[in-house]
Amino acid sequence: CGIVGYVGFRNATDVLMEGLKRLEYRGYDSAGVAVKVGGRLEVIKKAGKLSVLGDVLKDEKLPGHFGIGHTRWATHGAPNDPNAHPHTTEDGQIAVIHNGIIENYLPLKEGLLARGHRFSSETDSEVLAHLVEEKYRGDLALAVRQVLQEVYGAYALVVAHQDHEEIVVARTVSPLVIGLGEGENFVASDVPALLPYTRRVIFLHDGDMAVVSREGVRVTDLQGNEVRREVVEVDWSLEAAEKGGYPHYMLKEIYEQPRVLENTLGGRLSEARAGVELDLRVDPTRFERVHIVACGTAYYAAWVGKYLIEGLARVPVEIDVASEYRYRDPVVDERTLAIAISQSGETIDTLEALREAKRKGAGTLGVINAKGSSITREVDDTLYIHAGPEIGVASTKAYMAMLGAMAMLAVWMGRARGTLPEAEARTFLGELRKMPRLVEQTLEKRQEIAHIAEKYHQAADYLFLGRHIQAPTAYEGALKLKEISYIHAEAYPAGEMKHGPIALIDERLPVVVLTTESPIYEKTLSNIQEVRARGGRVIAVATEGDLEVRRFAQDVIYVPRTHYLLSPMVSVVPLQLLAYETAVLLGRDVDQPRNLAKSVTVE
Ligand code: G6P
Repeated sequence: CGIVGYVGFRNATDVLMEGLKRLEYRGYDSAGVAVKVGGRLEVIKKAGKLSVLGDVLKDEKLPGHFGIGHTRWATHGAPNDPNAHPHTTEDGQIAVIHNGIIENYLPLKEGLLARGHRFSSETDSEVLAHLVEEKYRGDLALAVRQVLQEVYGAYALVVAHQDHEEIVVARTVSPLVIGLGEGENFVASDVPALLPYTRRVIFLHDGDMAVVSREGVRVTDLQGNEVRREVVEVDWSLEAAEKGGYPHYMLKEIYEQPRVLENTLGGRLSEARAGVELDLRVDPTRFERVHIVACGTAYYAAWVGKYLIEGLARVPVEIDVASEYRYRDPVVDERTLAIAISQSGETIDTLEALREAKRKGAGTLGVINAKGSSITREVDDTLYIHAGPEIGVASTKAYMAMLGAMAMLAVWMGRARGTLPEAEARTFLGELRKMPRLVEQTLEKRQEIAHIAEKYHQAADYLFLGRHIQAPTAYEGALKLKEISYIHAEAYPAGEMKHGPIALIDERLPVVVLTTESPIYEKTLSNIQEVRARGGRVIAVATEGDLEVRRFAQDVIYVPRTHYLLSPMVSVVPLQLLAYETAVLLGRDVDQPRNLAKSVTVE
């Protein structure tokens, strides 16, 4: 979602709308502004694209010099007017915009209701407005600080009060940037919104708060201690700016993954109940088998899903690339659940495969990113992955979100079917909750990976190996490299290598081996030795702290430790970066690789 805030001398509504326009690629379900007019905050918010709000604002001018605005990609609550941001208190004195998820909003909301607050939306964000109202004694920053001691989760938070011409902001995980002007200052979730006005910005760090007024900006930590943050000059072309300052959408989307995963999991995990709340009508106890159909990257998410569902829910799962499924006369009956995984929800092969299963009596479920897309209209139910708009043709963040969704689905089925004990579910969910942070850590490896890409970008072929739940990771790594660098890459289950591809190995062949901790770690280590014995170059993706693997691999990319069934999430990131860096070195068109399309609506 996109955020803009302004305090200065210009028409605030114009600044907000101009900024939001530049952030619309972040979400377009609803939009809203709060502008101070004649001593009061006037809020106008509308479901639908930004232009809907723009039309309303043409008739209802809001002539003020202080305001905040938002454009939303719905996660909690439907994309209707009340759920749009900003959210206000009942008396309208305080307005709040929030990106992210407040994990403990339910108990907080119950408390507020008991104390007489009335809510006008279903969002977790609205509790923040009410909490600030309770704490407020004339010092807005202090009130916000006190509230943030009580909430946990991810947020970029922006608060305005009618009696103070200042914007109080805070961030953890979700980004916020402050734009510096003369006699005016700005806040935004992303730099593009600021570019028409200023290039001098301060990027807030996790745990920072700031008070932004006409005269200046004061950055503190959550305890109120002043912290110094560098003022950065940005010199982005406007086209690049639309990519949030990244040279390519793909890189931007790779970097968005921690936040995307927050959104996918957001509000759905409940360790207390040792389960997940997916709000699905499908009855997971009714089925004896699961069929998953998908194409491309989504197919590898299906493969990971197979291990997750079989591992946790003990239901047999068959996976198929969609174009094969419909012609193999699959054995399906009413005790089959057919799951279609698709970012676009428009891939015709996937849709047709799903129709085939449906014709044969299967129950159907979509695991989908794009709201209201074709597949969502034909399935019994949809689990949205909430990855936001993905523009790079090579899928990255949607894959991450699909993996998150499949992990939740597996827990949900396992709990309902009684195959996943409570304690085990709790541990697994605890690990899953940590995942956005872990994914964030893997992004720090970019330099190291760029170095490896440099070493091998002239290779004619690449081999990718992995076992069990990391076999699909190997395939996805090979697919990413093929798609955007055009280097031929082959993936194999590591144990199967000796039955064929081993013949390819020589000192010119880089071999990427997924060798993270798992019950079959030792086996994969033996496969690495098989490669080394024949002169192959090994790039291992291993678990932080694994020193053993260093003895056999020329290069090791370490990823954080997690539950082995979740290891694909941390392990795919270095492979995305490897493909990206290699393609850039080779001068390829990263965002629009030849011959490919983002969504394929022909068979
Ligand atoms: C196309 C894209 C792939 C994508 C596949 C499935 O081939 O190039 O990147 O994985 O379609 O797309 P979907 O929208 O169904 O996930």
